[in-house]
Amino acid sequence: MKIAVVCGTRPEIIKMAPVIRELEGKNADFFILHTGQHYSYNLDRVFFEQLKLPEAKYNLEVGSSSHAEQTAKILIGVERVLQGENPGIILVEGDTNSILAAALAAVKLHIKVGHVEAGLRSYDRNMPEEINRILADHCSVYLSAPTEKAKAILLGEGVSEGKIFVTGNTIVDAVYRNLEIARERGNTPDALNLRPREYLVVTLHRQENVDNGGRFASILEGLDQIAADFQLPVIYPVHPHSRKRMSEFKLKPRNLTLIDPVDFLRFLQLESGARLILTDSGGVQEEACILGVPCVTLRDSTERPETIDVGANILAGASPDRIVECSKLMLGKEKHWQNPFGDGTAGRKIVEIIMGGQ
Ligand code: UD1
Ligand code: UDP
Repeated sequence: MKIAVVCGTRPEIIKMAPVIRELEGKNADFFILHTGQHYSYNLDRVFFEQLKLPEAKYNLEVGSSSHAEQTAKILIGVERVLQGENPGIILVEGDTNSILAAALAAVKLHIKVGHVEAGLRSYDRNMPEEINRILADHCSVYLSAPTEKAKAILLGEGVSEGKIFVTGNTIVDAVYRNLEIARERGNTPDALNLRPREYLVVTLHRQENVDNGGRFASILEGLDQIAADFQLPVIYPVHPHSRKRMSEFKLKPRNLTLIDPVDFLRFLQLESGARLILTDSGGVQEEACILGVPCVTLRDSTERPETIDVGANILAGASPDRIVECSKLMLGKEKHWQNPFGDGTAGRKIVEIIMGGQ
């Protein structure tokens, strides 16, 4: 059975890498279909190089545009590739426009869809990711749920039990595989003059935060306040989406160290040495939890409630006072939680399931 693996953005490349590695190990007949939603070197190519992934056979080069235009271009491009290749199954990961369009194109061609990271819900339908993940789940016949909680959500939406597999999240595989390499490589915290546990890391790029000038300014004010109160460096690798909005809204955080997005090994180093991580990213909430670093989520909801249940994360929203208050609270907490996202074998389980079901 031929397998199409879709990757379109930074988190999909990182989280699909363990699946691709297993497919390679099993000499499976597969190819990578890149949508081109992310195209800047430091959001795309750097991960293929660093994680030693095979080249994508196709790159649709859709680039950036409105939701409808981007989704439509991916739908058309994926349909053409699938008609030419006729795979038995297509694998998609996460919740971006790329994966919604790919899943939709495939299901209409009666090609089986496997959704890696199924069953996550923020219950906020204003977020594009929530719509994408719900629809992708309901197009799929293999749903890889990271946790029992995600499985219960899918069952509650009427997905039949035979389609759902609790595999853990492939981010655990990716972190376990790369953390030692990252630590051995040294140099990022040093280059920034950082000492372990004496700095904070921020990421912030989600549409609901950075496309709203008032909300973006309010979060940055909270972060500036933390840097001043704690007298610690706050390192923010700025996603190009946020960089663009920061410049449009003329926002100039005073106390943050703004850097360009970094590669995965450097980011793992930064995260694992941080005293606290503040983020609106899905993947970064998971990584903080896996690495034992407390996390403050700069959002009103999360589709990763397991991180809150184990005491690793808290929802702070966008108010400066609440961001400062939540940061103080998380710093004072016991940090010995269990990682709820599996044992680092999700990639292997997913490949065994889809290859066993052919
Ligand atoms: C997308 C996903 C988001 C995910 C994020 C991962 C959707 C709706 N959003 O958000 O869920 O968390 O990827 O990082 O699918 N840009 C570049 N270079 C690039 C790509 C984008 O400069 O390679 C800039 C462009 O100005 C573009 C903006 O970022 O307009 C937004 O890009 P887009 O792909 O629409 O969404 P992301 O914010 O990257
Ligand atoms: N990441 C990275 N470099 C950075 C920032 C993030 O490699 O400068 C990685 C991070 O380790 C995580 C992934 O990007 O695995 C998360 O992607 P992102 O935050 O863009 O998307 P989300 O998870 O919110 O969809």
